[in-house]
Amino acid sequence: MEISTHAEFALDPALDAEIRRAGERLAGARHAVALTGAGLSVESGIPPFRGPGGIWTKHGEPPLDGYQRFLRDPKVAWQDRLAPREAWARELGEAVRSAKPNAGHRALAELERRGLLAALITQNIDDLHRQAGHARVLEIHGNHRLLRCIGCGARFDPSEIEVDPGRLPPRCPRCDGIVKGDVVQFGEPIPQDVLRACFEAVAAADCMLVAGTSATVYPAAEFPYEVLRQGGCVIEVNPEPSELTPAATLSLRGPGGAVLARLLAHASAAAEGRA
Ligand code: APR
Repeated sequence: MEISTHAEFALDPALDAEIRRAGERLAGARHAVALTGAGLSVESGIPPFRGPGGIWTKHGEPPLDGYQRFLRDPKVAWQDRLAPREAWARELGEAVRSAKPNAGHRALAELERRGLLAALITQNIDDLHRQAGHARVLEIHGNHRLLRCIGCGARFDPSEIEVDPGRLPPRCPRCDGIVKGDVVQFGEPIPQDVLRACFEAVAAADCMLVAGTSATVYPAAEFPYEVLRQGGCVIEVNPEPSELTPAATLSLRGPGGAVLARLLAHASAAAEGRA
C-alpha cells in the first residue's frame, strides 16, 4: 500500500532548478553514499518516529534500557516479541509488515544500478530498500525480518531458527548463544560489523544524499558532518527543515518519492552529459 504524495506534489520550477543542481553534484561525485530515515517510508504507510503523526509523539519514547531488559530476562522479552504488549510495538509491527517500497526506495535503487550511488546506510528496520532491489544496504539499526545471535553476531533468516514458545529464548545453531531480533534496541551497542562498514562508506564519500531523517540520532546523525569535514557535499531531501538543514550544501524541500524520482532523472541526464 503506497500512500502517494508523489502524484499530488507539484514540483515548482525553483525546486526543480535546485534538484537539477543536486543532480549535477551527484553525477560529478566520485563516491556518493545515501543515508535514509523513517521519513522515506512514510509514503509506504509507516509512520515516522518524531513530529506530526510520529510513533514516539503518539505513544511517548520507550525506556532507553530495552536491551538491558532483554539481557535481564530474554524469555520474557521473547514472549513480548511474539505478542507485543506495547501499543507502539503493535502499531509499528503491523505497519512494517504490510508496507511495500515506494517511489523513493525505487529511485535510490535505480541510482545504484546506474552507478551513481556506491552505498546506502539506512536507519530503517523495515527491509524496504532490499525489497526495492537495492544491493549495497547497510542497516545500522538492524532489520525487523532477521534474527541475530548476541554471542557470535551471526544473523539468520527466521526459517533457519526454530522458535519454540515453550523453549525461549531460541539458541544460536553455531555457538549456542542467545538469539534476539536483529533490530538494535535502545541501550544496545550497534553491531561492530555494520558500524565498521558504515564508517568505511562515510570515509570514502565525497557526497552524501540524506533523505527522510530528522538527523537527531547518533551515530548516524554524525555521518553527514563527517562528509562535510572531508570537503564533500551533503544533499538533503525532507519536506521539513531538520537539524542538518543549516549545514547541508543543498536542502530539497519536498517528499522523498517525488523529489528522489526527479533527482534520478536530473542526475542521469547530467551523467550522460558528462559521458
Ligand atoms: N519524505 C521525506 N522525509 C519525510 C517525509 C517524506 N514523505 N515525511 C516526513 N519526513 C521527514 C520528517 O520531516 C522528519 O525530519 O522524515 C523525518 C523523520 O524523522 P524521525 O521520525 O526522527 O526518524 P529518523 O530520523 O529516522 O529517526 C532516527 O530514531 O527512534 C529512533 O531507531 C529510530 O531509526 C530511528 C531513529
